[in-house]
Amino acid sequence: MVTDSMRAEVERLKREKDAVILAHYYVEDDAQDLADFVGDSFYLARKAKELSCATLVFAGVEFMAESAKLLSPEKRVLMPDPTAGCPMAHMVRRSTVEEARERYGEDLAVVCYVNSTTETKALSDVCVTSSNAVRIVGRLPQRNVLFIPDMHLGHYVAEQVPSKNVILNDGFCVTHEAIELVEVQELRAQHPGAVVCAHPECASWVVDEADYVGSTSGIIERVVSGAEEDYVICTVHGVHHEIDLRLAATGQQGRKRYYFPRTTPVCPNMAKVTGGKVLACLRDGTGETDVDERFAAGARRALDRMLELAR
Ligand code: 13P
Ligand code: SF4
Repeated sequence: MVTDSMRAEVERLKREKDAVILAHYYVEDDAQDLADFVGDSFYLARKAKELSCATLVFAGVEFMAESAKLLSPEKRVLMPDPTAGCPMAHMVRRSTVEEARERYGEDLAVVCYVNSTTETKALSDVCVTSSNAVRIVGRLPQRNVLFIPDMHLGHYVAEQVPSKNVILNDGFCVTHEAIELVEVQELRAQHPGAVVCAHPECASWVVDEADYVGSTSGIIERVVSGAEEDYVICTVHGVHHEIDLRLAATGQQGRKRYYFPRTTPVCPNMAKVTGGKVLACLRDGTGETDVDERFAAGARRALDRMLELAR
């Protein structure tokens, strides 16, 4: 919980250090409550570039802070917990990209989910997030698309853009993959008429069961603006906080109900990011993110192309 004194201290430090706090929907509730902007990974990447402050505190995982630094190299980017990584970001081999380039030549686009390392981004033609992957892949001139690292988002994109030959990699998110179809079906049986909302990082059999597929902000929006009363949510539990705030703000709290799978999806890395750590890193200037300069220019190019093609 954010106390009044904690909030006052954060406000004072933000002014003193010309800092802005960004938070992803998966971090702890009190870290979200201290943030100036809370959003999905695309929204936060765009904000990081647009803002004109000297320091960004990025309450999220490593690839998010690195993307912010790449898009805004003049800013100091601080991570409340620099050990918060994303295992999927490392699930791709350089040889996979090299072999595909060798095989398909000019008619290949390497499309990289932002949940990736700076080195992987630098090997790619364009980055995407879950909110813009379908649109961006559809706009690429090449017919062949190597989608890295996430096989499930890649599979979803392949289904949505059948004109492309999408080549899949074998990366995945442990937390989303653990959501089981049987759990979703049980919830549907218990709550007939519920709208099943899934993040495209879920396995394809869960995505196929969903009525709505979208990014974290897409799922939140679907619940808040939907006419239905019951929702099954197949993504990390952290989104509950924004849903609760927005249901309360729109007078819908008593009317709508939502349910997560029985084994509540928690991202252990996002869960490391607490309000206390946000305050500490702002105060002490710890957790500064640096990107590997050998890969920075290439990675920045792929991120900038995403911003261009997502328009
Ligand atoms: P969003 O882009 O939907 O916020 O997702 C980020 C993420 O890491 C999902 O696991
Ligand atoms: Fe990475 Fe999965 Fe956590 Fe998202 S939920 S940050 S993909 S480990």
